[in-house]
Amino acid sequence: MTQNGFRAEEIDTSRPHPARIYDYLLGGKDNYQVDREAGDQLAYAAPEVRIGVRANRAFLQRAVRHVVGSGVRQILDIGTGLPTSPNVHETAQEIAPDIRIAYVDNDPIVNTYANALLSPSGATSIVLADVRDPRAVVEHPDVRRVIDFDQPVALLLVAILHFLTDAEQPEQVVATLRDALPAGSFLVLSHATGDFADRSDAQAVYKNATATLNLRSKAGVERFFDGFELIEPGLAQVPFWRPDATPPPKSREIGFLWRRGAQDRLSGRVGRAGRAGRAGLPARGPRPGRGADTAAVAPPGRG
Ligand SMILES: C[S@@+](CC[C@H](N)C(=O)[O-])C[C@H]1O[C@@H](n2cnc3c(N)ncnc32)[C@H](O)[C@@H]1O
Repeated sequence: MTQNGFRAEEIDTSRPHPARIYDYLLGGKDNYQVDREAGDQLAYAAPEVRIGVRANRAFLQRAVRHVVGSGVRQILDIGTGLPTSPNVHETAQEIAPDIRIAYVDNDPIVNTYANALLSPSGATSIVLADVRDPRAVVEHPDVRRVIDFDQPVALLLVAILHFLTDAEQPEQVVATLRDALPAGSFLVLSHATGDFADRSDAQAVYKNATATLNLRSKAGVERFFDGFELIEPGLAQVPFWRPDATPPPKSREIGFLWRRGAQDRLSGRVGRAGRAGRAGLPARGPRPGRGADTAAVAPPGRG
């Protein structure tokens, strides 16, 4: 039994799960045969997928360092995935030991392995909830226990929204979450795209999984940032969002898992460095002109 009252036997091992496929592609051990088969099919359909998932994790860490370095002390990480070192709280605590984090996922297996996500300081919570009901997420008592929505929050939606269909209104989901955040908050988001190659074979792998893969174009992902201003470098392929070092070879091929930039929303009148305006990176991807432009954000003043 997990702390949230879910029994391990409730975990469906007959169908691939996004969290476990991702864990497998990252080299983790918390996955089953169905997930490994799906991961292998994915790598066949989209050969850059393994470098893509690693690049996404690296992006997540850089973005977390950025928001925590900007002074935010609360993180709401929705679609947290299985524990993968370094976890978000470990990266954040290097800068701010007093960081408070609510991890949210709708997959019971994430709860089963949740102990690795618990900070010794007790300032983390793990919540089984579904982003498709965003109000329930922000009102969940275990989210409220660690997150004070009167103080700036970094909202992480990293590699999750492509599991929502258009009918599930992901833009409305993001808007509801956005409206719960006070001024000075950030949004960090990445998303898979088919902009760089036909990825219908990769999408087909998810047809038997517990969630479908819904690729979105650059314009479609940009809409999630309504109400935000993008910080430099704007919306980018993940290896090119404020890289610490020269991005690895083949980074421009990361299309299937093309994660978009991080951004933040703050009062907008505050002249924090790198926050105003947008700037595209030169597009050098396989489809010139649709390459790596980018996003980051400072929204109109709120609260
Ligand atoms: C690919 S993993 C991403 C993990 C982590 N955010 C990262 O980028 O490294 C996607 C996660 O989103 C979760 N997820 C998918 N649909 C969800 C939903 N509707 N509500 C909450 N979590 C969801 C999956 O269970 C999985 O753990």
